[in-house]
Amino acid sequence: MQVASYLPRSFYRSDYMASNTNTKQVVITSPSEKFNSIILPEFPLLLAPMEDVSDPPFRAVCKDNGADLMYTEFISSEGLIRDAIKSRRKLDIFDYERPIGIQIFGGDEESLALAAKIVDVTQPDLLDINFGCPVKKVALKGAGAGVLKDVDLMVRLTAAVVKSTSLPVTVKTRLGWDENSLNIEEVAERLQDVGIKALTIHGRTRCQMYKGEADWTLIGKVKNNPRIKIPIFGNGDIDSPQKALEYKNRYGVDGVMIGRAAIGYPWIFREIKHYYKTGELLPPPTVEERVNVVRKHLRKSLEWKGPIVGINEMRRHYANYLKGLPNIKEYRNKLVTLTNPNEIEAVLDEIIVRYSGYEFTRTPIELVDYHEKCKLQ
Ligand SMILES: Cc1cc2nc3c(=O)[nH]c(=O)nc-3n(C[C@H](O)[C@H](O)[C@H](O)COP(=O)(O)O)c2cc1C
Repeated sequence: MQVASYLPRSFYRSDYMASNTNTKQVVITSPSEKFNSIILPEFPLLLAPMEDVSDPPFRAVCKDNGADLMYTEFISSEGLIRDAIKSRRKLDIFDYERPIGIQIFGGDEESLALAAKIVDVTQPDLLDINFGCPVKKVALKGAGAGVLKDVDLMVRLTAAVVKSTSLPVTVKTRLGWDENSLNIEEVAERLQDVGIKALTIHGRTRCQMYKGEADWTLIGKVKNNPRIKIPIFGNGDIDSPQKALEYKNRYGVDGVMIGRAAIGYPWIFREIKHYYKTGELLPPPTVEERVNVVRKHLRKSLEWKGPIVGINEMRRHYANYLKGLPNIKEYRNKLVTLTNPNEIEAVLDEIIVRYSGYEFTRTPIELVDYHEKCKLQ
């Protein structure tokens, strides 16, 4: 089994940390002279933190396809302190993933500060605080988006984290609690004042959950506030290269964060990058490319989760990666029942032979509302 590396991040002097005079790069400043700042390319693409999705195997295929900055799934500060296995496991990060942020959530100053110290030991490139999670068990317990109801508390929690870590601290949040309390402009200024180094804004309120369309107008207002100096990343509903570029141009954000569109379609990153550079759309990935991603995701799952959980958890990904292939059901049924990796590999070989040269038609990426059944109260 592969073991995560916890070498100090100053050891990793790769491209993203190289000093460069290109002023269009986006910089997440290090609060400590001991460490370099994180230097991202112009118009960086971020992979969103997603519980039960953005684990190391999924991150590996997103990284291969161009994600510039990635985040772990959110980790409970209380869980980390209790030494809960699930929380600790989410701290696993690998050299090839850098730059990478670990995301924590909580509603208590002491716990968040202590969790930040625990995270410090694992040496990610940054520490992100989640003030955006809308689900009842988090938001109604005064964490995640629940903190949006009390900006003073949000500032105290953030200050406690900033004080207890040498990492750059960033925040991910929403526009406000509900449509009558859209306080993101105040939130951005006050969090910048207590030392956060970047802010990601999902263009919905807590009460919207994932309903309706994300509204980027306020994200643009935050970005264009002359008081705001830190990078502002926009998030919500990016599902195509055209939309990514249109929103960048319209709202002026420093970069975009992509969540659901990357699930089953990590090629979204390379497609946006190509479109940004050339104005042209890449053709959809070939069957060989899709199967290669399946193979890599599977291999990483086996390495990180072990043979039983690795095979089981991979089952929910096949349909997404192979979407669009006619009569794929027969193969898919095999993939989700086989337990031997070699037999799975053999089915993947068959798929390549059967569909070689198949021309995919470009269809819009479907953004699933994973929180449809979550209750507000
Ligand atoms: C399955 C799932 C899990 C999520 N888990 C997290 C999380 O752990 N932390 C977080 O800040 N946001 C989480 N989110 C929210 C996403 O990071 C992102 O803000 C949201 O999906 C909107 O972006 P999108 O339209 O590009 O998907 C999650 C979203 C989904 C769909």
